[in-house]
Amino acid sequence: MSIIEAKELSKSFMQAVKEPGLAGAFKHLLFPKHIEKVAVKPLNLSVEAGETVAYVGPNGAGKSTTIKMLTGILAPSAGSISVNGINPYKKRMENAAQIGAVFGQRTQLWWDIPIVESFSLLKDIYHIPEAVYRRNLDQFIELLGMDEFIHLSARKLSLGQRMRADLAAALLHNPPILYLDEPTIGLDVSVKQKIREFIKKINEEQQTTVMLTTHDLGDIEDLCKRLVIIDHGSIIYDGSLSEVKSRFARNRLIFFQIAEPLPLLMEQLAATPGMKLVQQSELEFSVAFDRYEYTASDVVSRVMRQGEVVDFRMEETGIEQVIKAVYDGNLELNHAESGEVAQSHAHSQA
Ligand SMILES: Nc1ncnc2c1ncn2[C@@H]1O[C@H](COP(=O)(O)OP(=O)(O)OP(=O)(O)O)[C@@H](O)[C@H]1O
Ligand SMILES: [Mg+2]
Repeated sequence: MSIIEAKELSKSFMQAVKEPGLAGAFKHLLFPKHIEKVAVKPLNLSVEAGETVAYVGPNGAGKSTTIKMLTGILAPSAGSISVNGINPYKKRMENAAQIGAVFGQRTQLWWDIPIVESFSLLKDIYHIPEAVYRRNLDQFIELLGMDEFIHLSARKLSLGQRMRADLAAALLHNPPILYLDEPTIGLDVSVKQKIREFIKKINEEQQTTVMLTTHDLGDIEDLCKRLVIIDHGSIIYDGSLSEVKSRFARNRLIFFQIAEPLPLLMEQLAATPGMKLVQQSELEFSVAFDRYEYTASDVVSRVMRQGEVVDFRMEETGIEQVIKAVYDGNLELNHAESGEVAQSHAHSQA
């Protein structure tokens, strides 16, 4: 049996409908009107122990609502959830013992007490044995670089510090399941990296099941083997990340640096059907090509025949392109998206 199992799970909210202005507010007070907003349509999801799942989709797709139901914060409108055999909403205490959760938008730490005291409270709440607590605390402090702020209260921490403390707090009791709702939102590159490495290590060493929502595609590429895409409350894709990449990514991209300008070659490449030239400068350019029409060596030899190549490299298909293709319902990327290619290239350089 899967560690997380959701069947026909759905959630609707009643949303107030107000007309604008003061008159509208009064009218609503006297004659309140509501409409039903379906945030999550009946969906099925099962996650095996040790999996790393990216749960992605546009704003308002229903990601956080799903995570809140899985963590037991929200009651489903219909359907069933079993997490390690437990109904998370009905057995909230038992469920809390087996999960860790980090919500990037708000902290779970006590605002006014030093972080290390928050940790110590969690130790009592979760009945963490002294030896386990010590070992985890020492390891987390080191891996997440927390010594400089562990004696400060949560209210004094920077966003990146707070997020690291939140992550540590969520994992002190060695939960087999970790839910992360946008854990890297607003963080700088180096803190993001630390957090990703930490999560990766926890998953590898303890086979912790990780379910992650994020808008940061780097998080997905670094951490997740499986990709679940939700849009307007329905799952539109569920499969392995590498599979979706190769299935949706028909374009490949090679970056070249040449020794001297080759205007004739540029003209030829730009005019070749099934190829797209993206020129960064006179000496640097990329060629996007249809992998079903050309091989990488076709493209490389075309360039090499005409002049000296200083450097070249194959760029992997960016997850940006893949996700956009899925959102748009395109099974194959068409070649006309030079802007997309250039952009994803720029990202992968960053
Ligand atoms: N408590 C609530 N009351 C009413 N509507 C809600 C409530 N929570 C969420 N919704 C609505 O449900 C839909 C899904 O919201 P949800 O927070 O799950 O989206 P999300 O996929 O997490 O988006 P984002 O990427 O912006 O975080 C939205 O239309 C939202 O307005
Ligand atoms: Mg959300």
